[in-house]
Amino acid sequence: MAIYEAVLTTKWEDRMNIAPMGIRFVGSEAILLSVFKTSHTHDFLINTGVAVVNFVDNVEIIAKSVLGDEVFPWDPAEKVDGWVLRDAYMYFEVRSVDYKDIGSRGLFRMEILLKKTRRVPFLFNRASFAVIEGAIKVSRLGVYREEEIASFFRIFEPIVLKTGGEREMRAWNFLVSFLKKEGIL
Ligand SMILES: Cc1cc2nc3c(=O)[nH]c(=O)nc-3n(C[C@H](O)[C@H](O)[C@H](O)COP(=O)(O)O)c2cc1C
Repeated sequence: MAIYEAVLTTKWEDRMNIAPMGIRFVGSEAILLSVFKTSHTHDFLINTGVAVVNFVDNVEIIAKSVLGDEVFPWDPAEKVDGWVLRDAYMYFEVRSVDYKDIGSRGLFRMEILLKKTRRVPFLFNRASFAVIEGAIKVSRLGVYREEEIASFFRIFEPIVLKTGGEREMRAWNFLVSFLKKEGIL
């Protein structure tokens, strides 16, 4: 089953959370989220059952949200108590209809209550994919070996420098600075 990368925004009382998450489609009206139990996203979903799935072409949002909870410009969601990223070219408002404990993760089946497309997405390039993959590596520091992470960043740096625009460069440099602080690069 294909996995597509999105940015999940959740809201629990007055707290907002943002994190990149993979989604899998179940037909056209539901998705599956496989969420680490240690994440805020898992807590928020257990407590509220609702979220907004934001599809972004601005990979800076993916890089920054994997490491923190910077609040990007947003609008209130319509069908759920949630927030929609203004930069999302498309988004779904979703509600949990089933939950399975699958070990280190919880598997949420979410029904899609609302789908909105706001604009045609901008093009993805090699730098965009490098940032997404780099953000995954950064989110799994304990899983990948440090040398593997460092080598990924060394191999892809020239590709980002060659093909990236300002947003991709900022996103990449953000991840690189974090890894330098951690002593991995
Ligand atoms: C592209 C991408 C996809 C990700 N997909 C998932 C996922 O499907 N499930 C998950 O639990 N974490 C996933 N992560 C990692 C989370 O985004 C990361 O652990 C994040 O820090 C969780 O934030 P939170 O504690 O605010 O929820 C992904 C990260 C990236 C960069």
